[in-house]
Amino acid sequence: MTLKDFRAACVRCGASRPYAAVDSRCSCGGLLDPVYDLTTARVREDEEAPSARYFDLLPLHRPDSVLHIGDGNTPCVHARTLGSRLGLDQLYLKDETRNATRTTKDRMAACVLAVLQEQGVSEFVASSTGNSSTSFAWGLRFTGAMKVHLFTGRDFVDRHQYTHHPGVELHVVDDDFVGAAAAGRAFAADQGLLFEGGFFNSGRREGLKLAYLEAYDQMPRPPAVVFQAISSGMGVYGAHKGAREYLAMGRLPALPRFVCVQQLSCAPMWRADRDGSDHIRPQDVLRRPRGLAKAILRGDPSNTYPFMRAITTGTGGGFAAVSDDEMVRARRWLAEDEGIPVCFAAAAALAGVAQLAARGEIGRDEPVLVNLTGGERDGHADD
Ligand SMILES: Cc1ncc(COP(=O)(O)O)c(C=O)c1O
Ligand SMILES: [Zn+2]
Repeated sequence: MTLKDFRAACVRCGASRPYAAVDSRCSCGGLLDPVYDLTTARVREDEEAPSARYFDLLPLHRPDSVLHIGDGNTPCVHARTLGSRLGLDQLYLKDETRNATRTTKDRMAACVLAVLQEQGVSEFVASSTGNSSTSFAWGLRFTGAMKVHLFTGRDFVDRHQYTHHPGVELHVVDDDFVGAAAAGRAFAADQGLLFEGGFFNSGRREGLKLAYLEAYDQMPRPPAVVFQAISSGMGVYGAHKGAREYLAMGRLPALPRFVCVQQLSCAPMWRADRDGSDHIRPQDVLRRPRGLAKAILRGDPSNTYPFMRAITTGTGGGFAAVSDDEMVRARRWLAEDEGIPVCFAAAAALAGVAQLAARGEIGRDEPVLVNLTGGERDGHADD
């Protein structure tokens, strides 16, 4: 078997080094991204598993490291009814609610677990508001004997599923999501285990990228604007990197504008950006944030905001913040017009589209891509 050769490079200073499973940041503070040979990279159209189809653009050396956990191959729907409601003729919904655990996070679990297995890591620590941890817990059954410690705040315990797997240990912390992540990091250091790192784990960003590569391939015209609800922004980061790779490969003619959507009750990035700040200020940070869209309740995104701001300003996109009413309405439209039951985070993304469309910031004929990142669970939008 020929092994794929690729390295990690710092996005700021360009320093290059061998790829590591969980690469922290470069000594200059820049992010380390896997870099592939885009002159030879191709999409293996016949492959059923997304990670096999886009293998050339994933941080895996061996084709047989690929995992398929029921992730991906989701529809990208031309939403004519909903589009006409919003005055958009080219509205496309990437229906990520159709993943195995009903969120796009299955894509990151498929990639991260494969990368860890390939690099010989069999036990690790992670934390999330529920969806990523659920995807890890689900994905574990497709690996050898891997073990994961999932850290979470008390308010988010009920959002964790498939944790009955023998390899899963759930640690409940009496704190919010940011506090639970800190506890997980301390536990990992204490036990000598790998803390997978969330946004700073490139395997996560690269896995989430595949929702977008699929969508770019499914749309009859390339997207002019892309919307996603963000917490850390790792999904949009992957989407942007994937678009740059597709540009280099001649599979996209230009980069779309990227719009990152938050909910008004927890919108630290939108607030900082609105005031022209290049960093998250103390007044932007929320302790124990509340809101309908629980998946994106990150009160302190200080360490990822600069990367997201670079993407929104660099592409002419931006940040948006939507109210509870806007999310509730968007969720109803998605159910009634297109028959897609979504969680409030996904509804927030569509509410962001509605807001910009109403302000005349999207042309009627512009192809718009919305990532519907998560579905309902047991008839509930986000709990
Ligand atoms: C349903 C859903 N949408 C959006 C997000 C945003 O994630 P991020 O900005 O970290 O990529 C998450 C993260 O947990 C999620 O679960
Ligand atoms: Zn650097």
